[in-house]
This record gives sequence, structure tokens and C-alpha cells, in this order.
Amino acid sequence: MKAKAAVLFEVGKRLELCDVDVAAPQAGEVLIRMAAGGVCHSDLHAMTGHLVASLPAILGHEGAGVVADVGSGVTSLKPGDHVIPLWRLSCGVCEFCSDGRPALCNAGLQVRMTGRFLDGTTRFSLSGREIKHFAGVSTFSEYSVVPEKAVLKIPDDLPLDKAALLGCAVITGYGAVVNCAKVKPGGSVVVFGAGGVGLNAIQGAAIAGAEKIIAVDLVPRKLEYARQFGATHVVNASDGDPVAAVRALTGGRGVDYAFEVIGLPKTMRQAYDCLAKRGVCVVVGVAPMAMEISVPVMTLVYEERVLTGSVYGSSRPAIDIPKLIALYRAGKLKLDELLTRTYPFREINEAYAALERGEVARSVVTF
Ligand code: APR
Ligand code: ZN
Ligand code: ZN
Repeated sequence: MKAKAAVLFEVGKRLELCDVDVAAPQAGEVLIRMAAGGVCHSDLHAMTGHLVASLPAILGHEGAGVVADVGSGVTSLKPGDHVIPLWRLSCGVCEFCSDGRPALCNAGLQVRMTGRFLDGTTRFSLSGREIKHFAGVSTFSEYSVVPEKAVLKIPDDLPLDKAALLGCAVITGYGAVVNCAKVKPGGSVVVFGAGGVGLNAIQGAAIAGAEKIIAVDLVPRKLEYARQFGATHVVNASDGDPVAAVRALTGGRGVDYAFEVIGLPKTMRQAYDCLAKRGVCVVVGVAPMAMEISVPVMTLVYEERVLTGSVYGSSRPAIDIPKLIALYRAGKLKLDELLTRTYPFREINEAYAALERGEVARSVVTF
């Protein structure tokens, strides 16, 4: 079948809308008619080359849709089911999957790096040329084939445009706080970057009962969003050294938890520098592969600080996403407020331009 899809042919180029060929789902695969695709910065990182992607590929890794067809042997899903594709495939049986760390599964990493399914092939092509599956899910396509193991069924009554956000922005930001750092009630938190993912780190900290939640960004509008999502204090980094501002807000002590949700070595170091003794800094943002950061050894040893990273919210999506849905239904998780703009699919490049300009909390394209 044919589908309209947003293809990245080369680093440095914008997305091209093409009518690609989509092959039927094979054994253990599912065809999804996409309803909404989330406009996340990671796709922009792929366009700029900060994030390595096998090209040409159909981008998009956040989304929600309806199952249109299933391949042989698929038992957990049927046509008509509402689903979220999961951008990190997990095999379910390896050391990491068995340990509740599916985002670290090597099978998922292989799909991510090659843009091909585990059998080494793709289901997309254009005039006979192979087109890759970005993150294994390619949500910027009217139709996408996804392995059953990377598809999560969600309730039918959840609006699909908002459900899409659960699959990356929400689970990544919230999970970094709740699963990775395990923020405790009464703790103090700083979040660098109040974008789609960072706002979810902020609301995760609020839900976890953090007492002081400081948001750092450069854009006043983002700092307003941050307050709406639970920040108790905001710091505009363009007004001066944000580390000094965070230290001042904590009486010189520093914070218990710092999150970097931008993807710059400079802000990763700033986040680390905000820590109190025994503080934990979690890097969520994606920097270019060759980038390094350094920290003073003395603070690691004599202050017992921790520097770590978190991928996909260190989550178990099949357990965490239903919990997030329950929090949303209970009025505790802000999803409606997160979705600040919706674009028709054909305006996807404009949606990315608006993300770069800092105009949105999170946006989606709809099909
Ligand atoms: N200091 C403070 N804030 C900054 C700085 C800076 N030097 N540079 C950028 N920002 C802010 C932007 O203003 C924006 O609000 O960081 C925020 C980034 O948000 P988005 O562009 O919405 O990106 P998002 O989709 O949230 O992704 C953030 O997480 O998953 C990763 O790959 C993703 O690295 C990306 C990061
Ligand atoms: Zn595995
Ligand atoms: Zn993302």
C-alpha cells in the first residue's frame, strides 16, 4: 500500500513528504494507521546530525494510532485496537529485559542503529529504494509497520493526540525523575530545559512530592509553562549564571536532584554543579555522539555526588504507561496542558521550526 510519510534523506536537510510503499506486516508485526505523531527534539537532533540515524528514514518516534492489520502469529493485538508504538524494541528475555530495564535491550539498540527490523529488512521503500524505520517505529507516516513487541495497547476512550505524548515526552521526563532518580517527598530539584520532556520531569517532581522545584530555561514562555507544571521557582539562564541562581535559591546548599533535559555539555555541567552533597544529576538530553563532559573528581568522592543518565525514562513502558494514564484520569498528570499546538501532517517542517523557536510546550502532527 501507499502512505504519505516524512522522510529524512540527508543530515542537514528538512523532511520531505513522499508517497512511500508500505509492505504488509509479516509474522509478529502490526500495521498501524497513525492518528498523531509527536514533535520531539530527538527527531530534530537526527535532522541536524546530533543523533546518528541510518538514512534515508521515516522519522517520528512518538505517536498513537489504530491497528489496521496484523501479521501471522500476532496474538496480543487486533485490528481496531488503539495503540502507542514504543521507540525502543525489547526482546523480553535478555539480561536487561529480565531485570526490568527494557530500554537497555540490545535488540532495541540494533533496530535503533540500523533502522531495520531484526531480520535485517525494512517494510518501507520508495521507487524500490529501501527506507529505514527511525527508532523502529517511524510515526511520521500515515501507516507504519511495527513489531508486536514494540506496540502497547491503550484504552479506546483516550484521545489519540494526547496519548501520543505518553510514548516519549511524558515517560522520558517523568520516568527520569520517578524511576531513575527516585525523587523523594520533600526533596529539592532543578530541571534544565522546560521543553516537552523537561516539563514532564517538572510535573514528575511535583507528583513525587518534591518541595522545591526550580526550572531553568532561556525562554520566558517556557518558564511560564514550567510554573504551570509545578515549578516553585524559575531561573532565566540568559539573566546570568544559572548555577549561582540555583545555589542562592537553596541557601547555598544546592539541590538533591538535577536533571539536564536539553542536550548540551555546558548545561549538563551546570546541572551537576547545582548539586548538594550526595546529590544525583540525571542527564536526559542527547548531545552529539563525540561530545564529552568532565566534572571535578573531588565532588564525586568527597561529596558523594552521582552523575548518571536515563534513557526512555528508565521505564518499563507496559507497566508505566498504564500508570501514567491512571494519573491523567485522576487529574494529576497534565496532558491536555502539554499539547499546546496541533499541525496538519503536511506542515511538519513548520512544526519543527516552531519547536526551534521555542513556541510550544509540545505539538503533534495529525493525519
Ligand atoms: N539553558 C537553558 N535552557 C535551554 C538552553 C540553555 N542553554 N538551551 C536550550 N534550552 C531550552 C529550550 O528553550 C527548550 O525549552 O531547552 C528546552 C528544550 O526543549 P525542546 O526543544 O522542547 O526539546 P525536548 O523535546 O523536550 O527534548 C529535550 O531531551 O529526549 C531529549 O533528544 C531530546 O535532547 C533532547 C532533550
Ligand atoms: Zn532484551
Ligand atoms: Zn522523544
